[in-house]
Amino acid sequence: MFETLQKATLDKIFVLMAEYANDPRNNKVDLGVGVYKDEKNITPIMRAVRKAEQRMHEKANTKTYKGVVGNKEFSAAVVELALAGSVPQERIRTVNGAGGTGALSILMSVLSRARPGGRIWISDPSWPNHWPLAEQVGLKPHSYPYFDAKSRSVDFEAMIKTLDGLGPDDIVLLHGCCHNPTGANLSPEQWDRVAASLQKTGAFPLIDLAYLGFGEGIEADAYGTRKIVTWVPEAMIAFSASKNFGLYRERAGVAIAIAKDAASADIVSSQMQNVIRATISQPPDHGAEIVRIVLEDPELRAEWEAELDEMRNRMIRLRVKLAEAIKARSNSADFDFIAEHRGMFSLLGLPESVVQDLKVKDAVYMINDSRINVAGIPEDRVGELADALLKANA
Ligand code: LMR
Repeated sequence: MFETLQKATLDKIFVLMAEYANDPRNNKVDLGVGVYKDEKNITPIMRAVRKAEQRMHEKANTKTYKGVVGNKEFSAAVVELALAGSVPQERIRTVNGAGGTGALSILMSVLSRARPGGRIWISDPSWPNHWPLAEQVGLKPHSYPYFDAKSRSVDFEAMIKTLDGLGPDDIVLLHGCCHNPTGANLSPEQWDRVAASLQKTGAFPLIDLAYLGFGEGIEADAYGTRKIVTWVPEAMIAFSASKNFGLYRERAGVAIAIAKDAASADIVSSQMQNVIRATISQPPDHGAEIVRIVLEDPELRAEWEAELDEMRNRMIRLRVKLAEAIKARSNSADFDFIAEHRGMFSLLGLPESVVQDLKVKDAVYMINDSRINVAGIPEDRVGELADALLKANA
């Protein structure tokens, strides 16, 4: 059987994660995989999450099936968080996904049933898993321009030119906020322009909302998503609770479909349920139930929001510190963009050979496209990191 198989290419993010774990050097710096880290270099269990989990253990009296759509209350709380009433409920249907990736996979599967072999437009660059996810369900990925490597900002003119040329058969995958890997994001005016373009062309938006709250705060980060769903008749959103609830291994996510009316929404819902049943039968519930408890309880919700603010502010502080340390040493503004970007990542624009050197010589790990996870910047060794970056890039 297996003789016909060839070795598959594994995702570079998780390959790097394993390499980092196996590196015995105690000065190693992990700027690779996108997980939040605190000042002790630990990915913490958030305070509200821990309390919700304790409550859950005390109160839970069964582990029986929940049903194919998963935890409905979790989905409803997430819809409220992400959309804040910007679309009438009767047009929205949800199922839980196994994390944001699971949600994306369900949504793409349904889109591929609606448009077999259809085109899906993905930003260049994008999260490395977007392309394989699309191919896995038979969609045909294409790139739209997104990043201006020179200014390290969004090349909006090129992006919108491509989007304006699409039609109703095209699917556009958008990062709702905190673009991965670049860290360069659309302004509210640019989101308005994207929404107007989608409304005009009829191209279908699929929004990956994996970092809500990591950029400028929940409300500001939801701006683009809310704008788009109020301007177009149909859209889909993949929400992830991995980052903003720190529930990486629990796989809590929601696949949200917005249809033009209730009848159409019911059809989409049945398709999503059909995909779930035929793949994982039912979504996992543990993380979903934790998030439900946090979002429904005013005290826990306030505690969660406060910790999310702390995490975001820490990432912004680390950005500023690294940019300033580099500037102080190099007397150049070339890396100022690190302080201006938002979210978990910045794309430094270093050649792959430099990225390799940093790993081999200095034990500084980043993705080979030179994406850094800013939460991994060691606050007490920022100067050392700045020196290593400048030396390697000299
Ligand atoms: C990342 O981009 O590093 C994270 O989203 C983790 C992942 O699943 O790739």
